[in-house]
Amino acid sequence: MKEIVIRSATVAEVMTGWRRWGMPVVTVDRVFSPADVQGIVALDEAGAIVGLLTVYAEQAQAEIVSLDSFVESQGVGTALLEKAETALAVLGIDKVRLVTTNDNLRALRFFLRHGYRLLSVHLDAVAKMRMIKPSVGRTGKNGLPLLDMWELQKTLVHTQEEAHSLPLPQESADDTRQETSAEESGRELGDGSVEQAGELPKP
Ligand SMILES: CC(C)(COP(=O)(O)OP(=O)(O)OC[C@H]1O[C@@H](n2cnc3c(N)ncnc32)[C@H](O)[C@@H]1OP(=O)(O)O)[C@@H](O)C(=O)NCCC(=O)NCCS
Repeated sequence: MKEIVIRSATVAEVMTGWRRWGMPVVTVDRVFSPADVQGIVALDEAGAIVGLLTVYAEQAQAEIVSLDSFVESQGVGTALLEKAETALAVLGIDKVRLVTTNDNLRALRFFLRHGYRLLSVHLDAVAKMRMIKPSVGRTGKNGLPLLDMWELQKTLVHTQEEAHSLPLPQESADDTRQETSAEESGRELGDGSVEQAGELPKP
């Protein structure tokens, strides 16, 4: 994909994206509905949504609640993850965590390559998830039994550069302008305010 544009997601877009998994989205210790999270979407050159990342931020920690690339191996997942991490770092978030099921070897490799480390394995956590969401199957990707949840974590590095970058777009949901460099973003914002730039977009 030549160009990937990132913008904030609406609640409706989060809802649509999450339908792939069935709602609500359940992690190890939380149940999320679309209104609980903040999201960003990736758009292709034609303006079609090709990926969605949602995050829940609380104090110095954040959880990536979902990351979905609808067109795999073309940089969509990386673009969304990097954008979210930059935004979270600017907000002062130190640790980003996420959980994925034990069958998801592709996601494990993806996150390990992006600096995430295995924090813990929640044995039989899928059975607990199934109590909330009976639709969760018993066999997952690669024909593997769906049993455990892997919790991954990354410690974000706060750089000087980040302090001046615009993390996530603040424009309205239907604005599909291109991602811009930190300097350009500051100019577009007009006031260069780090506080404003650091806010995650409201879905
Ligand atoms: C895991 C997931 C988010 C990765 O998204 P993606 O869009 O495929 O990610 P990227 O394209 O950025 O990177 C994936 C691979 O493609 C490669 N790639 C990226 N751009 C590329 C390009 N232009 N040409 C060829 N390969 C490319 C990357 O190097 C990477 O290789 P690796 O897996 O060996 O590290 C995606 O597989 C997905 O949505 N899975 C289903 C949902 C899920 O499991 N989510 C995670 C749990 S929350």
